[in-house]
Amino acid sequence: MGNVLSLYQLLGSVAGVLILYGVFKFAQLQYNQWTSPICDLPGPKSPSWLWGNIREIWSDEHSALQEKWVEQYGLTIKYKGFLGMTQLYTMDPKAIGHILMNNQEYQKPDHLRYILNQVVGSGLLVVEGEKHKQQRRAMNPAFGAAQIRELTEIFIDKSIELRDAWTIEIAKHGGIGKVEALGWLSKTTLNIIGLAGFNYDFDNLGGAPKPNDFNEAFSLVLKAGTRSVLVFLRAVFPPLRLLPTVRRAKVRKAQATIAQVGNKLLQESKARGLDPEQAAKKRRDVLSLLVRANMSKDIPESQKMSDEDVLAQVPTFLIAGHETTSNATTWTLYALCRDQEIQKKLREELISVPTENPTMDELNALPYLDFVVRETMRLHTPQVSTFRIATRDDVLPLSKPFTDKQGRVQEGLSIRKGQALTIPILALNRAKWIWGEDAAEFRPERWASVPEAAMAIPGVWGNMMSFLGGPRACIGYRFALVEMKALLFTLIRSFEFELAVPVEEVTKHTTIMQRPVLKSDPKGGNQMPLLIRSVSQSWM
Ligand code: HEM
Ligand SMILES: *[C@@H]1O[C@H](CO)[C@@H](O)[C@H](O)[C@H]1NC(C)=O
Ligand SMILES: *[C@@H]1O[C@H](CO)[C@@H](O)[C@H](O)[C@H]1NC(C)=O
Repeated sequence: MGNVLSLYQLLGSVAGVLILYGVFKFAQLQYNQWTSPICDLPGPKSPSWLWGNIREIWSDEHSALQEKWVEQYGLTIKYKGFLGMTQLYTMDPKAIGHILMNNQEYQKPDHLRYILNQVVGSGLLVVEGEKHKQQRRAMNPAFGAAQIRELTEIFIDKSIELRDAWTIEIAKHGGIGKVEALGWLSKTTLNIIGLAGFNYDFDNLGGAPKPNDFNEAFSLVLKAGTRSVLVFLRAVFPPLRLLPTVRRAKVRKAQATIAQVGNKLLQESKARGLDPEQAAKKRRDVLSLLVRANMSKDIPESQKMSDEDVLAQVPTFLIAGHETTSNATTWTLYALCRDQEIQKKLREELISVPTENPTMDELNALPYLDFVVRETMRLHTPQVSTFRIATRDDVLPLSKPFTDKQGRVQEGLSIRKGQALTIPILALNRAKWIWGEDAAEFRPERWASVPEAAMAIPGVWGNMMSFLGGPRACIGYRFALVEMKALLFTLIRSFEFELAVPVEEVTKHTTIMQRPVLKSDPKGGNQMPLLIRSVSQSWM
């Protein structure tokens, strides 16, 4: 009896401590905000004490709301995030360049890293500081142009597999096939990153995917990053993370399965590296490359990646490198359905290529394909924004000085340690003051000459923010671009595309990512139904 009582007492005091901690944290946050120098910035009113402006931002298609705020209040504003935490939101290219280049001072917020860590483990997406520098240095060569040139064959082979699967769909339905493009493309890009990333074949394009522990574990882990209040609360109040839940136990188990398969692949890769006969036939996947680099005598011991670090990259690649590319390719097809002239023009360019197995250089030499991919990455960029936190007091440089509430002209904006920042991606890609009055239109021809104002954008690629910039820019951007080009090359040469639903039906569901949904079928999840016809057939 006494034991039970003391257990209750113990639980009671744990709960008490948690509540006290929560109240303390909340008060501390509120105090920091009231005294922060960015209080002086203009910005919208917050409609909710819990969600701040977040729900409002999510409920809007594209980045329309932020664009309106910036028009109303200026390039650098404040808004409220979860639990009323003030977010600094800046579209000022100079300020953004400063934040991205100083990645040791501006890190991913703890709660974001916590959520990412739950999903992908502590790979390149999650680590900070020296650890990040070390991993990134070791991995950069695996994503360089020379390496992607070698991987192009995999991109093309898998694109052809998808084409053949769609040709069967067409034959089944007497000339016009109906395909759910996003689902098919997601399978294809998963297959590609499996092979190109670590020589694992998901083998999921012929008919029903094979039931397989790894595939199942992977889809379960994917679902772990949800938008529930509990996930947010755990993210913001670390003690809550100690509470066990059924779902988390499942996710843990799934992660263990992924680690097991990853470990098997790593050991195989190491064994091949040690066998001189096998080593001569160089594998081109990223994992084999990391293992080979690690064996080189030129790399100091301190810069070598541990097995654990390499294993953490397996789920990282799978998540970062799979749905982003499939969604971007899906949005390209959508844009091409909406403008049949552009589709025709692109097809003419692609059909003029004499081979169905182009190299990376041949793909990159196609100017209109390049324009179409750029225009998709501008308007339909998969990641809409990102978040950072200042780890020390700093002054953000601004391209235009501003006048504060006291009437003083400020060249820069003082911010405090702990300040949360939102970095726009889509809003900058769609800004009229950069891209002109037709910024919201899909017009590949605009890439024949890049506007002057876009030159100031600190992105790693294409005068855009789509792959971000600085030392933490997307490591896989060359991979993604050549992969998209291979897919589009193969598909547009083979098929004519039309939307299978009226155009007003397709909308975007935007949180941190943009995904397609149908107005009439919101519960049906992310989808893009298309009608396809063989190109040769329509010539007859
Ligand atoms: C169209 C496709 C893609 C888009 C739009 C995209 C976009 C991005 C963005 C915006 C970031 C920065 C994230 C942040 O800091 O908030 C990022 C990081 C990253 N991406 Fe991609 N990505 C794409 C494809 C890929 C592919 C194919 C791979 C791997 C094969 C990949 C691997 C990564 C990794 C590992 C990081 C973390 C880099 C670091 O923090 O050092 N991405 N990506
Ligand atoms: C890299 O090399 C170190 C030491 O030489 C070794 O302990 C480690 O397992 C290697 N890692 C990989 C991924 O090959
Ligand atoms: C892309 O589409 C899938 C559906 O297959 C969705 O679950 C995913 O979150 C989307 N990803 C991005 C980056 O928009």
